[in-house]
Amino acid sequence: MKITIIGAGNVGATTAQILSAKELGDIVLLDVIEGMPQGKALDLQEAGPMYHHYCNISGTNSYDDTAKSDIVVVTSGLPRKPGMTREDLVKVNAEIVKSVVEQVVQKSPDAIIVMVSNPLDAMTYVAHKVSGFPKERIIGMAGVLDSSRLKTFIAMELNVSIENVEAFVLGGHGDTMVSMIRYTTVAGIPVSELISKERLDAIIQRTRDGGVEIVNLLKKGSAFYAPASSVVEMVDAILRDKKKILPCTVLCKGEYGLDDVFLGLPVKLGRKGAEQILEIKLTKEEADSLNNSANEVRELCKTVSL
Ligand code: LAC
Repeated sequence: MKITIIGAGNVGATTAQILSAKELGDIVLLDVIEGMPQGKALDLQEAGPMYHHYCNISGTNSYDDTAKSDIVVVTSGLPRKPGMTREDLVKVNAEIVKSVVEQVVQKSPDAIIVMVSNPLDAMTYVAHKVSGFPKERIIGMAGVLDSSRLKTFIAMELNVSIENVEAFVLGGHGDTMVSMIRYTTVAGIPVSELISKERLDAIIQRTRDGGVEIVNLLKKGSAFYAPASSVVEMVDAILRDKKKILPCTVLCKGEYGLDDVFLGLPVKLGRKGAEQILEIKLTKEEADSLNNSANEVRELCKTVSL
């Protein structure tokens, strides 16, 4: 397998590091900055004797080296600065993503693209438009990250193992994301039986603000350990054909009554990419929240000129 990661910044390089330990395939790290992806790739390769990984990790500035990738992770773009919303990034990152995806598809016409750049839902839409790829092969990473934050906060609240928590977050990767509390369990017990509504509301809000909380602490750049781990979760499910259900950003074609919008939904990931969107029953309130999120993504996509 050949895995290309575009953008060798914090998210890209950390993704490469976690991926290398899993030996899922050879890794190509691409960035526009000369020497930087080469340096990080060599450094990672030299970690092999300790990690005991036997994959080949190379760095490059040329898309030629990305040819025939099975999967391409796009992390390119500017991260948020304190006070900036993901939406503030839309114009500048749309240009970057457009140029990246054009070059990716030329060299790897059969690849699956995992989008990570923000604002995520709009950038996944850009990648779909520019690539002309079928919807199964354009997947955005957001729901895994947001769900992982929700799970973490629930485990912290109850002082239980993170392994006991099952939770997922749907919708856009922004303020309108929808934490599916009704489907959230701790060792199989509905979370609403263990945590008060007031505390749950605070946890939902903290999840919504999860990205900003890290941005404000770091002051420079945004989160990368959890985002990179989330990408690896998806790449692993795809390349190993796991048929794993994860919340991912995909193009709706009638599911949940939504059409032609990229949104976080429960998706079965396998070797063909987003192989199936699962339609779960929603209450009216949940459906309204998802609709609201879809409308926000639509409005944002309208501001992108391609
Ligand atoms: C976050 C950014 C990466 O949620 O969107 O941390």
